[in-house]
Amino acid sequence: MNYRIAKAQLVQNSMTDGAHLHGLASTSKAELAEINSHEFIILRGGGTMVVCEVAAGIRPFISYCGTDLPGAAAGELSLLSTRQHAPGGAAVHLRGSMLNELGTGISGPAGLVAHREGRNWAIDLRVVTTDHNGPARLTLHCADTNTGVKARHLLSIDTETGVFTASTEITNTGDAPLTLDWCTALSLPFDDRFAKLLGFSGRWASEFQIEEIDNFTGGYVRENKTGRTSHDCFPGLYAGTETTSENSGYAAAFHLAWSGNSRTRVDRAQDGSAALQMGELLFPGEIDLEVGKTYRTPEMKACWSKDGYSAVSRKLHDHLQNALLDKRIFDQPRPVHYNTWEAVYFDHSEARLLDLADKAAEVGAERFVLDDGWFGGRRHDKAGLGDWWVSKDVYPEGLHTLVARVNELNMQFGLWFEPEMVNPDSDLYRAHPDWVLEAQGVETIPFRNQYTLDLTKTEVFDYLFSHISALVSEYDIAYIKWDMNRDTNYPGSGGRGAMHRQTHAVYKLIADLRERHPDLEIESCASGGGRADYGVLRHTDRFWTSDNNDARHRHTIQKGASYFFPLRVTGSHVGPHKCHITGRTFSMEFRAASAIFGHMGMELDLAEETPEDRATLARAIALHKKHRKLIHDGELYRLDTPDYRIGMGVVARDKSEALFSSAQLDLHPTTLPGRFRFDGLDQTANYRVQLIWPGRNISISSPSIMEAADLLGDGKVFSASALTEYGIQLPLVMPDTCLIYHLVKES
Ligand code: GLA
Repeated sequence: MNYRIAKAQLVQNSMTDGAHLHGLASTSKAELAEINSHEFIILRGGGTMVVCEVAAGIRPFISYCGTDLPGAAAGELSLLSTRQHAPGGAAVHLRGSMLNELGTGISGPAGLVAHREGRNWAIDLRVVTTDHNGPARLTLHCADTNTGVKARHLLSIDTETGVFTASTEITNTGDAPLTLDWCTALSLPFDDRFAKLLGFSGRWASEFQIEEIDNFTGGYVRENKTGRTSHDCFPGLYAGTETTSENSGYAAAFHLAWSGNSRTRVDRAQDGSAALQMGELLFPGEIDLEVGKTYRTPEMKACWSKDGYSAVSRKLHDHLQNALLDKRIFDQPRPVHYNTWEAVYFDHSEARLLDLADKAAEVGAERFVLDDGWFGGRRHDKAGLGDWWVSKDVYPEGLHTLVARVNELNMQFGLWFEPEMVNPDSDLYRAHPDWVLEAQGVETIPFRNQYTLDLTKTEVFDYLFSHISALVSEYDIAYIKWDMNRDTNYPGSGGRGAMHRQTHAVYKLIADLRERHPDLEIESCASGGGRADYGVLRHTDRFWTSDNNDARHRHTIQKGASYFFPLRVTGSHVGPHKCHITGRTFSMEFRAASAIFGHMGMELDLAEETPEDRATLARAIALHKKHRKLIHDGELYRLDTPDYRIGMGVVARDKSEALFSSAQLDLHPTTLPGRFRFDGLDQTANYRVQLIWPGRNISISSPSIMEAADLLGDGKVFSASALTEYGIQLPLVMPDTCLIYHLVKES
């Protein structure tokens, strides 16, 4: 390689970065090492590598982020990426910075937009110092004395999983307030091999739908200003090459750990470079930084793998479990839920609920969750929200009788709240009509007959804390289902945008309650899965994946959710025979199987189910309990399957056993189905394969693989390589059948 030419080009690059010379004049390893120690910081861990160019005075820059490149030196990557003047372009190559702020002059979208009444917007941050705390942690201090702005980039790699976390703090060091309109957690270079994006979209009752976006020019932008994580704009993205699949190929995932408004964008510039930004979408003037004040972005998570999408998901799952989720309940089995919503809706009667509690315990429930309808004047969805006291007209003696019965039946008691909301028809609203978020001069349109309370007001926060806390103490409540059933489209408080402060206030309210009641578990729900993200999961223990219990659709929703969330946190419930959302009917065998892989529960009127179906449900719950340690602690493998079938499984971390499910959702195009290929097995071992659900021979014709491999009996032993590469023939079954295989390693 001609290093002299390279040097000349680097000098040119560097001049735009403050006339700092990279000095790559010779090929000597010693010199490269010297350069590395002065100019670059490499963060490494868990198979991830991030290279930061950080010499004092230059624009900070990430020259590489992705899977580890063993033996690669930072200087050589910088040299390898030497670019040049593009005809018709800037006189020198402009490569941007960690925020691509406007002062860098790059033509793509800025990652930092801030100003003082229309001035000081050409921010141009330069490295001042670095705190390099160990091989996987870096705090980078940057400043622009011209505009009076400081930035602190907080970067770290989780060395267990390789998940990279980035956030940025912006401090106003000028002499007048700074209006901050946008700040990405980081502007991350986007690998040029990525030709495909997987976006996560959807709607109420159809969350986590995967949208494949092929290569594009310009920008891919998702903006969420619903005031919650949202159903349609989940702040997460996967990227892969043309050929990346679940179990092979270069893949990456990105997620903003935040439950408020957000923006995700990937932009490809004319010069072929691409960058990803993720941050909080701010209302105008929402962040007005007084002199000396600091704004901190939410954290962005990123991780990469050479082994496909499913491998990236496993890293994210482990990161969430090891680094973010509260550990106090980790050793306790996740209790099977019975939730009252679809059984009774608002029609509460103590006698009926006592009967449901008996029936729930009979089929194996371990936690009974009393959903909406128990408080204030909440006999329908038009009244009562905000009045957090037990309705005397429905429960004259309070909830004591019900709670006592639930506890006698060895179930924990859980209760539904929607703390951030108020119905205009409520005592709370009548007393405090000024307690809601609103934009001055504009009518706040109710969603589901409700407004959003302004939790940034101390009196509102205190009201909610004291009422919820008192009920938790009085009834020894083990669990709260924390709902949030509307978009907050006018998040104004005192005339200013307030969603940033509101989101932090919600986090604090949950955190304070958990501190006061250390054993309390909390579920995040927002009209189903509208508030599921790594921000809220720092404070909660699971989320409600969807209001849609349609067993067929549930497989697609749960598959989408699994790209970011492990099975221990995804609430999966068995719904009624006729789904209340889609009107489709399904057998209990299929309904129950769709809920086994997750934090299992049920949400149906057990009195309406036949005794046979209740017995099948009890069998499924027993099966879940038998295997739930594996389901919640194992590693998840999604399989590459055709559209009409979803295949996934969990493999024990020591590879001693595995559970796989094959859900047949439609007819296959051929008269007979194909083979099913397992994944994640110990390739040196043999495994005994048995079919443990639905527990009878469901093959349409016989004999079949069911008899040949004695799948309902002792099963047969096969080599892991045959099971993985060749696969096992599927029996011919009707659509809406879910088969569950148990594999045990032979010693
Ligand atoms: C939301 C939730 C449901 C249920 C209702 C109660 O829609 O997602 O599970 O709790 O509210 O109103």
